[in-house]
Amino acid sequence: MDESLSKESRDYQERAREVAEKFVRPVAAELDRTGEYGWSVLEGLKQYELTGLWIPKEYGGGGAGVLDLCLVVEQLSRACGGIGVAYAVNALGSFPIIVGGTDEQKEKYLPGIAKGEKLIAFALSEKASGSDAGSLRTVAERDGEEWVLNGEKKWNTNGGVAHVFTVFALSRPDRGRRGISAFVLERDTPGFTIGKREDTMGIRCVPVVELGFKDCRIPADSLLSGVECQGFKNAMMTLDRARPGVAAQALGLAQGAFEWAMRYTSERTQFGQSVLSFQAIQFMLADMATQIEAARQLVYSAARAVDAGASNMSKLAAMSKVFATDTAMKVTTDAVQLFGGYGFCKDYPIEKYMRDAKITQIYEGTNQVQRLVIGRAITKEYAQLAQNLDVHIEHFPEDAEPGG
Ligand code: CAA
Repeated sequence: MDESLSKESRDYQERAREVAEKFVRPVAAELDRTGEYGWSVLEGLKQYELTGLWIPKEYGGGGAGVLDLCLVVEQLSRACGGIGVAYAVNALGSFPIIVGGTDEQKEKYLPGIAKGEKLIAFALSEKASGSDAGSLRTVAERDGEEWVLNGEKKWNTNGGVAHVFTVFALSRPDRGRRGISAFVLERDTPGFTIGKREDTMGIRCVPVVELGFKDCRIPADSLLSGVECQGFKNAMMTLDRARPGVAAQALGLAQGAFEWAMRYTSERTQFGQSVLSFQAIQFMLADMATQIEAARQLVYSAARAVDAGASNMSKLAAMSKVFATDTAMKVTTDAVQLFGGYGFCKDYPIEKYMRDAKITQIYEGTNQVQRLVIGRAITKEYAQLAQNLDVHIEHFPEDAEPGG
């Protein structure tokens, strides 16, 4: 039990652990094989009142913060990384409404998401616009009381099952990224199509799809916040809130893989003793446990910073994402190694953890983009520090003798 967590947080954690054991673990391998969405898990999440915990209470949600979201994602991902993101991506999709929606937009969309009756996805990336999110090409043109969307989106996690989409499009193409606006769109809108589903390496139970918009007309009040050109800022604010969730997914994957590795190495016997009793193996597991614990502290601390609205939240969110996802890749790879040849086979659960972990280093901003965010933040922090301090560096006098 983590004593640093509040009673409410521990309660969320415990409920998520139960859902993971009762509803996720029994179906994880099957969903990975078939690519089916985890509908039975969604029922479990509803039963345990975990859908929409991040949504404010006045809109039917749990009124909890990013820390509690991370605790739930971590527990679900211990059992299946695909289910972890299938859950977390609803937060990613709804944060644009929470941070930028009008009261009417919140009232219209958030209660259904909070109940788990509506699923949502976040449509930012395009074929030619990934890390450079500001270079997107989808356009939104105002025509009387409607907006007309044309273009396409790529890497839309959850898009295959979502009922609602937050979509980013250029309403003022002449202004570049400052001309991006955010919209809410419903699945059955004419002119909106769900395209190709990606055949992914991991998180196979989550449908990642392309989206198309061809003269797709949506009402004027679909513009988030009711104000144009707020889209890029909205997307960045959303990603600050969502990135600790990816970090938590990675953390859960690392923890889950570590637990399997402990079990396997303690049960497997070679040279007349358990594999775990060899010091070389214990050292590997000791490093894995240490890295996981370090990642956990950073993820929780970033989530707390987001919940507190701290000025350094972008930096901490990026740091948590880099550290936890790089840790997950390393730990899951080492866990496969500890299973030996069995780790390489689908008969055992461990290779799935490694496949699921890979995407966490890529989506919601590659780890290279996270380092860019961190680099910019520390440069800015240093510039502020240097302004207030009389910083100078002492040089050794030219005639100083070494050791003198
Ligand atoms: N909060 C609020 N505003 C912010 C902000 C933040 N965290 N970060 C930047 N901004 C504002 C800036 O203040 C600036 O405002 P002005 O125009 O008023 O000056 C504006 O946004 C532009 O900022 P930058 O100069 O930093 O923008 P940039 O073009 O250099 O891009 C970037 C920065 C960090 C690289 C950004 O483009 C980025 O995060 N890229 C990665 C995008 C990403 O994560 N995509 C994945 C989406 S998830 C997905 O597609 C898959 C899925 O479904 C899961």
